[in-house]
Amino acid sequence: MPSLAGMPAEQIIESMMAFKKGTRPAIIMDRVSRGYTDDEIKTMAYFFTKQPLKQWDDTTLAESVAAQAAGSIGAPK
Ligand code: HEM
Repeated sequence: MPSLAGMPAEQIIESMMAFKKGTRPAIIMDRVSRGYTDDEIKTMAYFFTKQPLKQWDDTTLAESVAAQAAGSIGAPK
């Protein structure tokens, strides 16, 4: 599955609108997209496009759970 990090905002918005209208087939994003207003979708798109794409590292499940508990999930090691 492609990452949203760094994906052009227009592409995220276009996909979300298509999920919402039902013109892009989806397993789950049709329902997820209908939970947001068009403005909320734009805000998320501009957030995700600015995120750096991180390669998966050797973080273990236990480390991920601990990072989440500490409120720093997604922070680089
Ligand atoms: C419970 C949360 C979410 C789950 C489980 C989820 C899961 C998925 C899945 C399975 C797909 C593939 C399409 C499908 O079969 O539905 C997808 C695509 C996508 N999702 Fe989500 N998603 C979630 C939340 C979000 C949110 C909040 C956004 C907001 C921008 C988002 C944006 C997208 C986009 C833009 C694609 C298309 C990516 C592409 O071009 O292939 N998703 N997501």
